[in-house]
Amino acid sequence: MAQIITQSSRAAQALAEGKLVGIPTETVYGLGANALLPEAVAEIFAVKHRPAFDPLIIHLARAKSLSDYTSSIPQDFYRLHEHFGAGPLTYILPKGPRIPNIVTAGHDTVAIRFPRHPLAQELLQQLDFPVAAPSANLFGKVSPVTARHVEEQLGESISLILDGGPCSVGMESTIIDLTTALPEVLRMGGIPLEELEEVLGRELPYQQQSSSKPRAPGMLSAHYSPGIPLIHQKRKDLELRTVPENLRVLVWQDYLAQVPESQQRILSPQGNLAEAAAQLFTALRELAQEHPSVIWAEHFPEKGLGRAINDRLRRASVPADF
Ligand code: TXA
Ligand code: MG
Repeated sequence: MAQIITQSSRAAQALAEGKLVGIPTETVYGLGANALLPEAVAEIFAVKHRPAFDPLIIHLARAKSLSDYTSSIPQDFYRLHEHFGAGPLTYILPKGPRIPNIVTAGHDTVAIRFPRHPLAQELLQQLDFPVAAPSANLFGKVSPVTARHVEEQLGESISLILDGGPCSVGMESTIIDLTTALPEVLRMGGIPLEELEEVLGRELPYQQQSSSKPRAPGMLSAHYSPGIPLIHQKRKDLELRTVPENLRVLVWQDYLAQVPESQQRILSPQGNLAEAAAQLFTALRELAQEHPSVIWAEHFPEKGLGRAINDRLRRASVPADF
């Protein structure tokens, strides 16, 4: 059974020894390993049941060491990094030779993030290697936003989880590809699309569709599954539906009139999308643990963090005619 600890030095030592550690970040918890040790990275894929074609994000404390792991750094990186600093943004950059191929699933690009969570920063600053870390959930399942969530899914397979409290953003990082002719967003996440567009001064295409070989398998349509059929629709369409037995409902600000309040979860009574994003994965888990026959989830406004929320709910859902 995994031990839950709060001392970053113990986590640092375990990572240096090639062990896997559950690590806190401001987005979601990661399943971390020393990115320069291929055997340790292979263990991540095994423990998560993650397909080998799905590349990992590497985590660094600061951009200073970036040139060790990339072969070139485009100007847009500096513009974005100067504005956002450490935080929920992942950059796809040309891969440098020090990163093992297993990390990038053979691609010649590498995903790099600088988490801003204080304990993650404290941990990474003690290391002389990057930490490869996917979200610390089984492949295709809801991402963990507390140390306890990590323990529930992976506690049997790893020995340490560094507890940094609940994740403040609660939604994975936004992924931007800076290796294409013009930058493209590969995953909606903790930094809103509009903010990226403003800093770069242009519209950013979003690769919403995925093929069997997606560039970011976070784009796979069956992802983030709570294990219960989920219907994701606009509020007015949910209001027209016949209420089935044993229903649970996820709404933004107000309860649906036709369903008992005890079967519903409000994500942000004040209508704050950042608060709703931070609550989303915990609410989905808790609703699923009540073993309903179906979950209805309200469609959020397509702006700011609402886009990332809708993206996760869409991938967690079954077709609306279910
Ligand atoms: O917030 C986050 O990004 C969290 C925390 C732990 O940092 N990590 C995370 O990792 O969400 P993961 O593995 O669950 O999702 C990473 C996504 C995957 O969809 C993967 O396909 C994509 O990043 N990715 C990684 N390397 C890539 C690359 N070189 N090119 C394109 N996509 C890449
Ligand atoms: Mg994930």
